[in-house]
Amino acid sequence: MTPATTFDRSIKIAPSILSADFADFGREIQAIEAQGCDWVHVDVMDGHFVPNLTFGPPLVKAIRRHITTVMDVHLMIAPVDPYIDAYAAAGADYITAHLEAGPHIHRTLQAIRGAGCKAGLALNPGTPVEAATAVLDLCDMVCVMTVNPGFGGQKFIHSQLDQVRRLRTMIGDRPIHIQVDGGVDTTTAPLVAAAGADVLVAGSAVFRGGSVADPAPYGANIRAIRTAAQGL
Ligand code: DX5
Ligand code: ZN
Repeated sequence: MTPATTFDRSIKIAPSILSADFADFGREIQAIEAQGCDWVHVDVMDGHFVPNLTFGPPLVKAIRRHITTVMDVHLMIAPVDPYIDAYAAAGADYITAHLEAGPHIHRTLQAIRGAGCKAGLALNPGTPVEAATAVLDLCDMVCVMTVNPGFGGQKFIHSQLDQVRRLRTMIGDRPIHIQVDGGVDTTTAPLVAAAGADVLVAGSAVFRGGSVADPAPYGANIRAIRTAAQGL
């Protein structure tokens, strides 16, 4: 059984490779996995849905062979549906699409599961979590954006904590992960964990101070975020 097929609410740290060295993704991924991350978060941006541009299916496929944990692909693109099969074929375990990216999120979530992937639903800070109610049972994960998507290193939006709490109540005992993405560090990790999040994406707070030549800071950063989230 692959990690992506088991469910629990333990804290999972998902470094965003948006903060990695773009010329060295293979070794960066090997480094963060060796240093103890749980998932690898891959931010796909199209310069249209968000004002930044990253990479597409060929690169996602190329990095897949370096990932032994879970490949968590966050699609900040519109439209989404024409590209789902390509990201599934690239080896995504989770594909997350934005509610705001199109008029047919129900169809999109069905298509992600139909392609053999776990389905994630991302919500921008301006979207109330209650907008996910009708499609919650099509989701394996809901991602509450704690920044406006597009860039790493932004300031955490504290008002999203109440949204996480409301989503946690909505989910109840259903096996649906709550992911938070943006501005997660040792200060904000305890807040999101207390509110009910279990998958913590962190870009700058994981990669800060380290490199493939000196990866120990990655491990220290991952452990510090996890410890903070667990309230230890
Ligand atoms: C933002 C991305 C995030 C981002 C997180 O659009 O979806 O995954 O890289 O970066 P930090 O942790 O630096 O806010
Ligand atoms: Zn992301």
